[in-house]
Amino acid sequence: MLESHLGEWLDLAVRWIHVIVGIAWIGTSFYFNWLNNHIRPPHQPEPGVAGEVWSVHGGGFYRVVKYQVAPERLPTTLHWFKWEAYATWVSGISLLFVVYYLGPSGIAVDPNRWDLPRWGLMAFGLGSLAAGWLAYHHLCRLLRSHPGWLAVSGLALGVAVAFGYSQVLTGRGAYIHTGALIGTLMAANVFFVIIPSQRRMVEAMARGEVPDPAPGEEAARRSLHNNYLTLPVVFIMISNHFPSTFAGSWNWALLGGLAVTGAAVRHWFNLRGRGHRNVWILPAAVVAMVALAVVAAPARVTGSDVPDDVWAIVQMRCTPCHSAEPTQPRVSSPPKGITFDTPAQLAERAPLVADVVASGFMPRNNATLMTDEERAKVVEWAEGG
Ligand code: HEC
Repeated sequence: MLESHLGEWLDLAVRWIHVIVGIAWIGTSFYFNWLNNHIRPPHQPEPGVAGEVWSVHGGGFYRVVKYQVAPERLPTTLHWFKWEAYATWVSGISLLFVVYYLGPSGIAVDPNRWDLPRWGLMAFGLGSLAAGWLAYHHLCRLLRSHPGWLAVSGLALGVAVAFGYSQVLTGRGAYIHTGALIGTLMAANVFFVIIPSQRRMVEAMARGEVPDPAPGEEAARRSLHNNYLTLPVVFIMISNHFPSTFAGSWNWALLGGLAVTGAAVRHWFNLRGRGHRNVWILPAAVVAMVALAVVAAPARVTGSDVPDDVWAIVQMRCTPCHSAEPTQPRVSSPPKGITFDTPAQLAERAPLVADVVASGFMPRNNATLMTDEERAKVVEWAEGG
């Protein structure tokens, strides 16, 4: 639907907004987490004050004070942090529509897995986000006092969801929906748990009561979950531009490994902030990244591994557009700089070719009239390679 020049600019504008509000959200999350980790008891004890932190930034000195539960009296202006979260979620869901639900068909639907019509894809995608939130929310309640078990079962559930998505959607569609689900959990934590519990505390204070600390503690736990989810979710968003992550058949397992690595790095920062110098997490994360990169490396294929019949099909159906000198009408340069002028150039991109040809995303609008048999032949070779 949105395949015009204007559609591309809409895509760009929404991406821009999404990245900016996402930076604002994650920035505040990092900052407040940093504050909590660096707050120390004040030099001169003050009633009700749990700790303080001094800092210097941009030519000014700052002293931040944290109260045990709440100050005795509310200030006239109290800043809340919620619009960053909501704007990130709304722009992210908009992007899901612009790129995946209304964009070029086939980018998320793989007819060999599940041949969903557009409305089916939307219902499946949005339904899975809602179901994922309900599952996570209940798991948090069930395992409130067992954070270790919650972390383990949360990860298991996350990997299971990524596996489920990868059985239904294209690799790219599976990755983006896993990322969208994590982002939804984070935004819903703000909307359904963190903000309401803060509101309850503020209302109690307005009535002159001492607020119950329990809702604040639940908000703090969800806030910490959000903090650990930031690194994996940002990774997923970037990985959508790197087919070596999402185009393999073990993509869901790779995602699980990368999520653990990201959360571990976040954990290292949190420990360090509290004064614990853990020596093995960072080196282990580096080793894990290298190991995952090696595991994800596609089997080496060279131009001589491309059978003649496959090469003939690609030259006929793909090279008209994907060439240094395209012959397809109205195509002036190779799309995305991808050329198939030699078998080696094709072999290099075998996993991504498997993904885009199987899903029907390529040839674009099937402008070169590729037949189903040709498609099957190219996919069979590209997946094997
Ligand atoms: C009519 C022109 C046209 C034909 C024919 C065509 N493509 Fe494309 N191709 C495009 C355009 C346009 C894009 C950029 C799509 C986008 O990102 O929106 C593209 C992008 C791609 C990409 C990158 C996708 C990504 O997600 O980064 C690959 C890989 C690709 N094409 C492979 C193929 C293969 C294989 C064939 C033949 C089966 C083929 N194309 C035939 C126009 C074409």
